[in-house]
Amino acid sequence: MHTDLVLVKLGGSVVTFKEKRLTPNYQAINNICNSIRKLDKSVIIVHGGGSFGHYWSVKYDMHTRPKKYDAKGISTVHQSMVTLNETIISAMRRYNLLPYSIMPSSLTFKLKPCSERILDLGIIARRRIIPVTFGDAVHVERGMFSILSGDVLMTMLAGILKPVKVIFAVNVDGVYQNMNTGKIVSEIDDTNFKSLDISRVKSDITGGMRRKLNEAMKMASLGMDVIIVNGLVPRRIIDAITNKQVDGTLIRALREAKHA
Ligand code: IPE
Repeated sequence: MHTDLVLVKLGGSVVTFKEKRLTPNYQAINNICNSIRKLDKSVIIVHGGGSFGHYWSVKYDMHTRPKKYDAKGISTVHQSMVTLNETIISAMRRYNLLPYSIMPSSLTFKLKPCSERILDLGIIARRRIIPVTFGDAVHVERGMFSILSGDVLMTMLAGILKPVKVIFAVNVDGVYQNMNTGKIVSEIDDTNFKSLDISRVKSDITGGMRRKLNEAMKMASLGMDVIIVNGLVPRRIIDAITNKQVDGTLIRALREAKHA
């Protein structure tokens, strides 16, 4: 386990206004930058697509299944993610953070993680440079592309880098136990996972909260605590990283894996 390293996913619903096409949420991005500069940890950031990547993926009917999607769609989705990435990187630099943008296509081959490249991210982060990568349209094989969700990329990175903690910043307060009452479940494990009311949560092409939770369960089974917090309240990201009591949902590492 890499005890100094944390992996943070900034959901597209935090860094953009999901319902307003191609619109970054500058305020949220700035607030997060301002918070993370106070951290004394090695950090790797993955961000989602929100109203950038998702907007164009829907327009060009692109999904997480490898296919010969429209060439213009592939280029457009990718470029919109590069644009959003640039917005986030610029904000980070304004806050005197030291981001280093990494293309997701350099971290996977045929949709499988490239472990040496991924291990490099850990080494870079240890120098207090912050690798920043993102969900994207990536080439799989023989001209076929796929949308690679930032959530899936998180599991790939976590499996190889073994960070001490994994944070998902989203635009709600955590995982709802019950959508009607708005009650948040504070902790999820094997025993209550199946009882959760996630079926009615609005999804998107990469699977929304359901996908996030599935990925979180995989990471917990690898021995990492995963915390889902509201990234629009950036203090909570910091509290989650620094072991403070958090308002959010903890998916606790499976104990037997933790000591493996
Ligand atoms: C989506 O990444 C990437 C594209 C659609 C190109 P994510 O699936 O991680 O994005 P969010 O966080 O749900 O917006």
